[in-house]
Amino acid sequence: MVSYKDLGLVNSRELFKKAINGGYAIPAFNFNNMEQMQAIIQACVETKSPVILQVSSGARKYANQTILRYMAQGGVEYAKELGCNIPIVLHLDHGDSFELCKSCIEYGFSSVMIDGSSKPYQENIELTRKVVEYAHQYDVTVEGELGVLAGVEDDVKAESHTYTRPEEVEDFVSKTGVDSLAISIGTSHGAYKFKPGQKPEIRLDILHEIEKRIPGFPIVLHGSSSVPQDIVAEINHYGGHLKDSIGIPEDQLREAAKSAVCKINIDSDGRLAMTAAIRKVLVEHPEEFDPRKYLGPAREKLKQLYIHKINNVLGSNDKM
Ligand code: G3H
Ligand code: 13P
Ligand code: ZN
Repeated sequence: MVSYKDLGLVNSRELFKKAINGGYAIPAFNFNNMEQMQAIIQACVETKSPVILQVSSGARKYANQTILRYMAQGGVEYAKELGCNIPIVLHLDHGDSFELCKSCIEYGFSSVMIDGSSKPYQENIELTRKVVEYAHQYDVTVEGELGVLAGVEDDVKAESHTYTRPEEVEDFVSKTGVDSLAISIGTSHGAYKFKPGQKPEIRLDILHEIEKRIPGFPIVLHGSSSVPQDIVAEINHYGGHLKDSIGIPEDQLREAAKSAVCKINIDSDGRLAMTAAIRKVLVEHPEEFDPRKYLGPAREKLKQLYIHKINNVLGSNDKM
């Protein structure tokens, strides 16, 4: 058993309190490899932003759990080396079982999500409470979820949104003891969040209704990539084929970040940025075969994307 405290990580409790009071949100960026980790740390150090490093179960399978943990630890040391001891949370994204959450806690995670949102309400409560009881013994914070996002959440596929029911949140939060709650208000995972012709809009009215029921309680938004159209155009220009990809408008996320939304999850935009940079190098320099020659520019583009998100969408700059 490794305690996250010995790795220099923090849980999310204090960060969320400050974020709610300050009207901003903490960035939750997913990582699977070294370049993503470096870009996240560089961007957060440069902007003096706290950060949540997210590991999905897919990331765990791809990169190996031990390697990811040492990478997070490396991230803490790297931030110090860059001259800024920013608060860093290591968080399990979309944990789907008690065993997975327990294993992550034993590996040094400071925060876990137990996603029981696709289960019947009572089952979601029981599973979430079980994880909370275990995690809190180690001062690890827990995110639960109510409502189902459209699209794919790991292996769970939903055709349409099941918005979070505001009348359930108080009961869920008090019965489970969770530290934060992910809600479904029209965001979704991936690069195809709306159909062409649909108005890209999230249900801020439901968010405000939820806030009224649990004032000051930390709310999380998943599926919050904005799918920047210039990046999509760049990918397509260099031989990609992304059609009709639409994300959440940044101004709506900025609005949400001013409320009790204190964690915003962004993964797909980073994937798009890396892909655009890699395609560009490979098309413009077909003679290149050194991975550093395309992963380096990909890392730089990712860093610039994160800096933009922190300064213009989340508002978490200078909040460390
Ligand atoms: O919510 C999902 C995250 O974007 C992680 O995606 O499961 O493909 O690693 P992944
Ligand atoms: P995006 O696919 O919109 O980036 O959402 C990521 C996410 O919610 C990770 O949990
Ligand atoms: Zn998610």
